[in-house]
Amino acid sequence: MEFRGAHILSVDQFDRADIETLFAVADDLRAYAARMRITRVLQGAILSNMFFEPSTRTRISFGSAFNLLGGEVRETTEVKASSLAKGESLEDTARVLSGYSDVIVMRHPEAGSVAEFAQASRVPVINAGDGPNEHPSQALLDLYTIVQEMAGRGQGIDGLRIALVGDLRYGRAVHSLCKLLALYEDIDYHLVSPPDLEAPTEIVQSLRQRGHRAAAYHELEPGINNVDILYVTRTQEERFPSQAEANRYRGLFRLNQAIYTEHCQPNTVIMHPLPRDSRSAAQELDADLNENPNLAIFRQTDNGVIVRMAIFALVLDVAGAVHDHAHPVTWYTAKRTPNEP
Ligand code: NCD
Repeated sequence: MEFRGAHILSVDQFDRADIETLFAVADDLRAYAARMRITRVLQGAILSNMFFEPSTRTRISFGSAFNLLGGEVRETTEVKASSLAKGESLEDTARVLSGYSDVIVMRHPEAGSVAEFAQASRVPVINAGDGPNEHPSQALLDLYTIVQEMAGRGQGIDGLRIALVGDLRYGRAVHSLCKLLALYEDIDYHLVSPPDLEAPTEIVQSLRQRGHRAAAYHELEPGINNVDILYVTRTQEERFPSQAEANRYRGLFRLNQAIYTEHCQPNTVIMHPLPRDSRSAAQELDADLNENPNLAIFRQTDNGVIVRMAIFALVLDVAGAVHDHAHPVTWYTAKRTPNEP
């Protein structure tokens, strides 16, 4: 694909060569994300960061990524604080905001809304999550993390075995990641969820049509052995018709160190898009895994900034110019130690 000026709305836009291009740029930007060097390549550019649903890491990491490239960030974080609350259409909002900004990142509760917004925008729009549909930048940072974790084990992505656990029906991060991994060869998907929260049929069928294996499991233990990656997710309670219905699924699948030790192969990588639900009745990913070196969740969040920097660098066509505008950091940066192990 041509990244320059593109909207990033769905992982369906990418092929393997695009992923390689993006990850090469991401690798090149690591020193800037780690504050070892500064670049001002996007000096004067403005990002409108529009979040009409709760977000912590996606919003801050998109904003930080833009700042780290030298750009400025303007943001709205709630529908009620924006003119959408006054009945403004997505189209009008897009026409207005694209006059104020060079790129727009948007999260919205309705599937398809970000694509609708993009149609009326004169600047590139990046989907930061449209309801239960897609979350392409999350899938890219997840895949970038998986590539690194597997490289550390002497393996690539072809032939990967991955268990996706939890709310596979409403989990947009899962939808995008499943589709993105399908670009590779011979993936073995273990889809572990309650029967009512299975992954959408069209996604599962498309994985099988591409020659991958995709098996549904309704219990945790049989689904999580014999995999390389364990991708645990939160029940997306805000997407259920009622809280009472969401409560039926709270705490059904809970991974902790004892279950991991008994049922997973040694060195199985543990991932989660975060936030994990730490309320005592939920705890899909127990805090007793925090010292497990295979827990990659904070490496994922670190990678979020790097991958989002790469998206901006490519969409705004400055990937080749980053180092021309660079100089070393002069302030105290000891806190910038990476999240290890
Ligand atoms: C995810 C999301 O918003 O879809 N969070 C994120 O962006 N890292 C997953 C979730 O909220 O459970």
